[in-house]
Order: sequence, then structure tokens, then C-alpha cells
Amino acid sequence: MNEPKRDMMSYKEFLEKSKKPYVRPHIWKWKDIEAKLQESLSEDFMGDGRGTIALVHEDTGESYGVSPTMNMVAQIFEPGERNKPHRHTNLALSIIVKGEGYSIIDGEKVEWEAGDVFIASPWSEHEHCNTSETEQALFYTIQDVPVVSKMGTWFRESPIGAPKSHIIKNQDKENS
Ligand SMILES: [Fe+2]
Repeated sequence: MNEPKRDMMSYKEFLEKSKKPYVRPHIWKWKDIEAKLQESLSEDFMGDGRGTIALVHEDTGESYGVSPTMNMVAQIFEPGERNKPHRHTNLALSIIVKGEGYSIIDGEKVEWEAGDVFIASPWSEHEHCNTSETEQALFYTIQDVPVVSKMGTWFRESPIGAPKSHIIKNQDKENS
């Protein structure tokens, strides 16, 4: 049975509840991030040769972001690793920390190395490839998942050609 839903409140209460919590300063240390990334390689969630972790700030609650509107993931690719083309409605702004390779974004090849930044806009088709035969590639990716998730507009097609899925409706939280 469905519980009754509360559908009104006083404006005073609304204003009070609409205040979002202050997000305290926080630092995520590279040595901790890198250790977790290496561990994530052993999980087969994203496929062999790739690992991803999410940096989260406790103060963002169920947004699981680094701020109430932005989230951040760190990704690692083993030498020669290439993921499948896919797309999603959250944007992905990536900052290369280590390694070299390329990404193909809506048919455009962008070659990257440490320090470079590239963006995959919402719903752009993209894939990443570590071209080194010996070195891992690591990068940070800033996304707006908390926003598109709250707006109910978080969709994914992964890989390209697979059925498009509404991530929330399908209770499917994967985001590559
Ligand atoms: Fe992606």
C-alpha cells in the first residue's frame, strides 16, 4: 500500500527547508585516490582494464557529489585499454592526470596527455583509449549528475546501439 504523500506545507516551512546545507571545505588526497583507483581495477563493473571511483562529500547527502550540483569521478585505464562508445545526458569534463591517449567525441579525435582538459557534452558519443603499451592513464572527470538526476533527465545509451535507458526509472545507477 502506498503511504499518504504530503503535498503542502507553509511557505515559512518551505523557505526553511529549502536552505541547502553548507558544504564544508574538504580535500581528497592524491595518494588515497590513486590507491583506491588501483583497487578498482580488480572490480569487473566497468570491464577489465578499467577502474572508476567517485569522490563524494558527505555534506551533499544523497547527491553523492563533491558539491550539491557537481560530482567527480577518477578513472584509470590499463595500457592499451579502450572503452566502448557510449553517451549520457550528464556532461563530462575530463582532466588528464597521467598518461597519454585519445578520445573520440562525436566523431572528433582529441589526443591527450597529462595536464590536458577535454569536454564531452551531454549526449555526445564518446570513447577513451590509452595508447601507451606500458603506462596507465589516469584522469579526473567532473560531471553534473546531481543536477540531471534531480531533474529526472538522466539517460544513457551504453554502448551506442544498445537500448536507451532512463537511469532513474530503471533503477540503474551505472554511469560510465
Ligand atoms: Fe562517459
